[in-house]
Amino acid sequence: MNGSPSAAERAAAGRRRFARLLGVGGAVLAPMAGYTDAPFRRLARAYGAAWAVSEMVSARALALGDDAGLAISAPHPGERDVVLQLFAADPAEAATAARKLVAAFAPAALDLNMGCPVRKVVQRGCGVELMRDPGRAAAIVTAIDAAVPVPVTVKTRLGLDRVAAREVVAAVVEAGAVAVAIHGRTAVQKYAGEADWDAIAEIASAVDVPVIGSGDVTDVHSYGRARARGLGVMVARAALGRPWLFRELLGGAAPSSDEVVAVSWRHARDHVGWYGGERALRRLRGQLSAYAERLGVDRRPFVRVDTLDDLADAWRTSIGIDPRGEAVEALDPFGDTLPRCPALARRRGRRLAA
Ligand SMILES: Cc1cc2nc3c(=O)[nH]c(=O)nc-3n(C[C@H](O)[C@H](O)[C@H](O)COP(=O)(O)O)c2cc1C
Repeated sequence: MNGSPSAAERAAAGRRRFARLLGVGGAVLAPMAGYTDAPFRRLARAYGAAWAVSEMVSARALALGDDAGLAISAPHPGERDVVLQLFAADPAEAATAARKLVAAFAPAALDLNMGCPVRKVVQRGCGVELMRDPGRAAAIVTAIDAAVPVPVTVKTRLGLDRVAAREVVAAVVEAGAVAVAIHGRTAVQKYAGEADWDAIAEIASAVDVPVIGSGDVTDVHSYGRARARGLGVMVARAALGRPWLFRELLGGAAPSSDEVVAVSWRHARDHVGWYGGERALRRLRGQLSAYAERLGVDRRPFVRVDTLDDLADAWRTSIGIDPRGEAVEALDPFGDTLPRCPALARRRGRRLAA
């Protein structure tokens, strides 16, 4: 005996950890490709998210030495409890990718994507395609679990075209998954139709790990209904351009107009800091216009933002609030701007040197 914990002891500790995080915190920020990057996760956690899941990255690409995934997954300085999501079809590739991510970032857990219905992902045998093959899904969880000393979680759907996740969820839990998130729709539904929380609860009742439901939680009422089932709760689309939603779900106040502007301004400055330039604001336009929508103002100037000055102008002209004004600056949730993502800076440095 060398005294290091067995796989079963590590799994039990992982289950307790996620149960504890769910117990003290509010909702979880669900993974959203193109959105749940370090700047957005920082805001969601500051407003009360129990934990946050990164954008998914390809295990195959990481295993083959393409480190773009490291830049996508990178936590910001001081980020705690981050869960990094992988999509994978092959256990050996998943293990290699897991080792890289854990060596680089020491996340709280690695999450296996078993819910993405996008063709590019499904064609490679990844995402929701894994639901067809519980044995392979379990083998991937086992391989990650054996490769790294951090727990594995899984995010899946109700099924492919009908509710049928019981078997695959049991298989991944048996293989060592310490928590399971279930999006209450089938793959065929994609994001349409109502999420079925009865079906999520039914699948959850058959396993003894924390289960986090996902789908259509948009306000304190839908959050309360979901929590009343004894499940953890993930929030995805409703949090876009609205990170203070996590505070509201915990009983906190809705933001003033000044606070909405302050948060959007912080988000934009962090985005520029993290990605290393204002060019990156183009990718934030969707969320900037979502902030505008929260205040009921015309989205058009926000979807054209190229620079921080453009954003400041958009707020001044639409509702007469200056993000650089003292009243707004006083509501900045952090007071500092994220530094450049180190993994991104290294990649760019190598490209320039080549
Ligand atoms: C733009 C977008 C990107 C998403 N990307 C991911 C992803 O990378 N991994 C994942 O497991 N789920 C992903 N999802 C699914 C969400 O995590 C969530 O389960 C789903 O949107 C249902 O929750 P909602 O009704 O609160 O939006 C994505 C959803 C959206 C809308």
